[in-house]
Amino acid sequence: MKTDRRDFIRIAGVAGTGMIATGLTSKGADKKDKKSEPFAHTKEASEQEHKQFFNMCGYAAPKLNKVRMGFIGLGNRGPVNLDAMAYVEGVEIKGLCDKRMVRVDNAQKILSKHGLPPAKSYGGSEDIWKELCKDPDIDFVSVAVPRGPLHAQIATFAMEHGKHVAVEAPAASTLEEAWKLVETSERTRKHCMMLENCCYDFFELLTLNMARQGLFGELIHADAGYLHHQNNFVPIPEGGDMWRVRESQHRNCNLYPSHGIGPICQKMNINRGDRLALISSMSSNDFTMGKMAAELAKKDSFYKEFDTNSYRGNMNTSIIRTQNGKTIMLQYDITSPRVYSRIQTVSGTKGLCQKYPLPGKITFGNDEWLSDEEMKAVTDKYTPEIVKRMGDLAKEIGGHGGMDFLMNWRLADCLRNGLPVEQDVYDAAAWSSIVPLSEWSVANGSNSIRIPDFTCGSYKTNTPLDITMSKGGNTNVRPLPSKG
Ligand SMILES: NC(=O)c1ccc[n+]([C@@H]2O[C@H](COP(=O)([O-])OP(=O)(O)OC[C@H]3O[C@@H](n4cnc5c(N)ncnc54)[C@H](O)[C@@H]3O)[C@@H](O)[C@H]2O)c1
Repeated sequence: MKTDRRDFIRIAGVAGTGMIATGLTSKGADKKDKKSEPFAHTKEASEQEHKQFFNMCGYAAPKLNKVRMGFIGLGNRGPVNLDAMAYVEGVEIKGLCDKRMVRVDNAQKILSKHGLPPAKSYGGSEDIWKELCKDPDIDFVSVAVPRGPLHAQIATFAMEHGKHVAVEAPAASTLEEAWKLVETSERTRKHCMMLENCCYDFFELLTLNMARQGLFGELIHADAGYLHHQNNFVPIPEGGDMWRVRESQHRNCNLYPSHGIGPICQKMNINRGDRLALISSMSSNDFTMGKMAAELAKKDSFYKEFDTNSYRGNMNTSIIRTQNGKTIMLQYDITSPRVYSRIQTVSGTKGLCQKYPLPGKITFGNDEWLSDEEMKAVTDKYTPEIVKRMGDLAKEIGGHGGMDFLMNWRLADCLRNGLPVEQDVYDAAAWSSIVPLSEWSVANGSNSIRIPDFTCGSYKTNTPLDITMSKGGNTNVRPLPSKG
């Protein structure tokens, strides 16, 4: 499997002319010679045949009495996962790593707030994370560095060094990286979970349970997305990398698919009975980012490098078809003024649920949503076991309303009990693959492209995720640190 870096560099160069920002780049799309297509390496990787070494779906690694953890990347997101894990009994935090030592020092304060001993500090260089991954006192590494190639590099290196790994979303930025995660996880038999916290949000969990019990009938279609008005031109404190702006400057696609598609894939049993099969994607022009960068650059030379006309389109819309004939519409826009939404509409033969605009709603037909009373009744009846056991505590602890804690707690619980993790490496690969595949489609006139079957056919017999908590769920929580 070979990444054609030259293609990437050539296309990135084209971006500088503004062609990518139009979304209509694709003279190359008409040509017969695949090599002349934009992102030909993605097309090649999408068509390559692979063989499964070992099926990681449902794989239960030997249980860990103590989950000895290391954290890499302690900016905005890493400390949230660290704080959540600091509550969990049986978790020992052994290593903290960030290339900026000040962030390691700040993270040590989270441990002292919880009354936990300091962890070993790793900082001060770009590849210091390798030392943490080699540490024999660590079993499990949680990664929250800027997305891009570093996610898969660190995850692969960690697995090669005998660690389970959890990596922030998306886990891979190319198809080649996604396959590398799959193959390394299968060969080493180490878990590689993408930390898709939105799968643990309360409406998503409720409606997953209802979908499982057949309340919506056979699922037909879903709408999902990540629609969140952000201003990423504000510099990150302590000399941050502006990596969010840079990726928007150089990649025209859905850069962040899994908050939207993750919970939908769980409902549709993707990789466990069905699989994502085909995608076609279209981007609008950029109407804001280039202008904003130009304005900022006039006043402050810091923004000079961002003053280009190469920004991705503000809105990216993809349509996806599954092998069993279901469809998904997936959107991404973090630059237009709007109310936050991940949409989360799921339509089946018997009913429909829709989370956004909040509050979440459900209908079983007759043109009417369930009333508040009816909603309360279905919520009481179908609240899943994890929420019954840990929901109130999760809300008290917080982290995106509690879902961050639920995810981290259950992950540690699965490792302690020797249970399969709830999002496996095939989920990480398939959900992340939307990034390069939407990029290919946008650059090739919105042509459709095959989504690889990262399970190599095992999806046909893999069983749905167990959400009953019939096993495990016995991991306790340390006393909450006093506030203030
Ligand atoms: N699940 C969620 O809700 C959620 C929310 C925000 C961000 N994220 C994801 O989390 C990841 C991190 O985002 P963020 O907002 O925390 O970014 P950030 O820039 O605030 O933090 C990243 C940290 O990684 C460090 N870092 C960079 N290169 C490194 C290296 N080579 N070695 C060690 N440390 C390095 C940086 O110094 C920084 O402290 C991204 O993948 C993002 O998509 C997820």
